[in-house]
Amino acid sequence: MPKGELIRTYHPAGFFYHDELSSNLPVVKLTEGGGTLMSDTPMEQEAYKLPISFARGNILIVGLGIGLFLQLLRERNTLVKHITVVELHEEVKSLVWRKMKSSNTELIIADGREYLKGVGRQFDYIFIDVWGSIFGTLNVVKSCCDLAQGCLKGDNVVDFWLRALYNRVEYRLKQGPTLATSPAGPHDPCLICGKKLRHDYAGLCADCADPLELSGYFVNKEKKK
Ligand SMILES: C[S@@+](CC[C@H](N)C(=O)[O-])C[C@H]1O[C@@H](n2cnc3c(N)ncnc32)[C@H](O)[C@@H]1O
Repeated sequence: MPKGELIRTYHPAGFFYHDELSSNLPVVKLTEGGGTLMSDTPMEQEAYKLPISFARGNILIVGLGIGLFLQLLRERNTLVKHITVVELHEEVKSLVWRKMKSSNTELIIADGREYLKGVGRQFDYIFIDVWGSIFGTLNVVKSCCDLAQGCLKGDNVVDFWLRALYNRVEYRLKQGPTLATSPAGPHDPCLICGKKLRHDYAGLCADCADPLELSGYFVNKEKKK
C-alpha cells in the first residue's frame, strides 16, 4: 500500500479507526475474483490480538486464508496443544499450507459448516473466520456460531472475526431500534467508518449497516409500527 493512502485499523474494543500511511507498506493479499479475501495489514493483526490471547488447548480455526491467525497464534501463545484448520478451497491449501504445516497442526479441506455438523469431538477454543468481505451478515455469523457452540468444551464461548464489534451491535439491538427514517443527525462515530452525521443502526451508519443486513431490520421494524 502506498504512502499517504488511508488505511482502516481496528481497536480490540470493537470499532474501526482510520490512519494515513506515513510510508509505503508491503502487504500480502489473498484475492478472489478481483476482490481481497484476506491481507496482513495492521487492521487484521490488531483484530486478532484478543482472540489469540484467549486461545488455548485443542483449537479449531475455520478459514485458513493466508495463515496469519495461525502464524500469530504460534508466535504469541504458549498454551496451544493442537490446532485443526478447516478450509473450503483446495487452491488456498496449495498456496499457503506448505509454509504453515507443522507437527501439531492438521488441515482439513471441507466446508466449515458441514465439518461442524459432523465432527463429533469437542475443542477448547474455536475461531471462525470465513467471511470474504470484512463482514458476514448478522444471521450468517449467528448460525455459524450456534453450530460451533456444540463443539466446544464446558462453558467456553465461540470466538470469531470482529466479535467485539458484533457484540456491540447486538447489545444496541437489544436496547430497541431508534428511528431510522427520521432525518440524519449527529451520533457517536459509526463503529466502522467513523461518520458522525448519519442515521443510527445499532451504532452504524446506513452504508456500513447494509453488508450486515442491519438497516433492513430497522426499516422493517418501523413499517410494523
Ligand atoms: C478471511 S479468510 C481467513 C483468514 C485467516 N484466518 C488468516 O489468518 O489468514 C477466509 C477464509 O475462509 C475460507 N472459507 C470461506 N468459506 C468457508 C467455509 N464455508 N468453510 C471453510 N472455509 C471457508 C476462504 O477460502 C478463506 O481462506
